[in-house]
Amino acid sequence: MIQLNINGKPQQVDVEPNTPLLWVIREQVGLTGTKYGCGVAQCGACTVHVDDEPVRSCSMPVSAAAGKQITTVEGLSPDSSHPVQKAWAALDVPQCGYCQSGQIMAAVALLRKKPKPTDKDIDEAMTNICRCGTYQRIRAAVHMAAGSAKGGGSIIHMGAETARTGGPVAPADGNSNVQV
Ligand code: FES
Ligand code: FES
Repeated sequence: MIQLNINGKPQQVDVEPNTPLLWVIREQVGLTGTKYGCGVAQCGACTVHVDDEPVRSCSMPVSAAAGKQITTVEGLSPDSSHPVQKAWAALDVPQCGYCQSGQIMAAVALLRKKPKPTDKDIDEAMTNICRCGTYQRIRAAVHMAAGSAKGGGSIIHMGAETARTGGPVAPADGNSNVQV
C-alpha cells in the first residue's frame, strides 16, 4: 500500500510503486480532471502540484509522491472560485478544453512564484501545449488573475502569440471533466 495525500485527503492505494501518478489519480482515486495527453512529460495536460510544485504526473512514479501533498485541479477550490479558475471562465479561455486543467495548474504555480508575471515570465513558465492555440487567452487570464490591467480588458493588445507547434493530438474524450 502506498499512502498519498490528495487535495487534503489521505488515500491508500494498492499499486506498483512505479505506476505513474496520473494513473493513480485518475483510475484509483477517480479524479478525472487531470488529463492524459502525451505520456512523456511534453504536453502538460497531466500537470498537478506535488508539495506546491507543478509536476507532469504522467512521468512521476507514484512512489515519488508518497507522503507529499498532491493537489489536482479539483483541489483548487470546491466551486471553481479560485482566482485563476474565475479568470479562465471570465475570458472563456478553453476551446476544446482538453489541455486546460493542466494550463490552470501551471498558471497557479506560476502566480505563486511570481504574483505579477510579465508576458515573458508567462511564456517561459507556461510550456503546456494547447492544440487549439488558446495561448493569447491563457496569457490574458493569467494577467487577470494577477490583478494586472492587461488582463482586465481587451486581449487585442496582448502582443503576438508565441509560436508553438508540435505535440500530441488531444484524445477525443475531451473536455467533460475540465473544471474552470
Ligand atoms: S500527459 Fe503528461 S506531459 Fe503530456
Ligand atoms: S483548449 Fe487546449 S487543446 Fe483544446
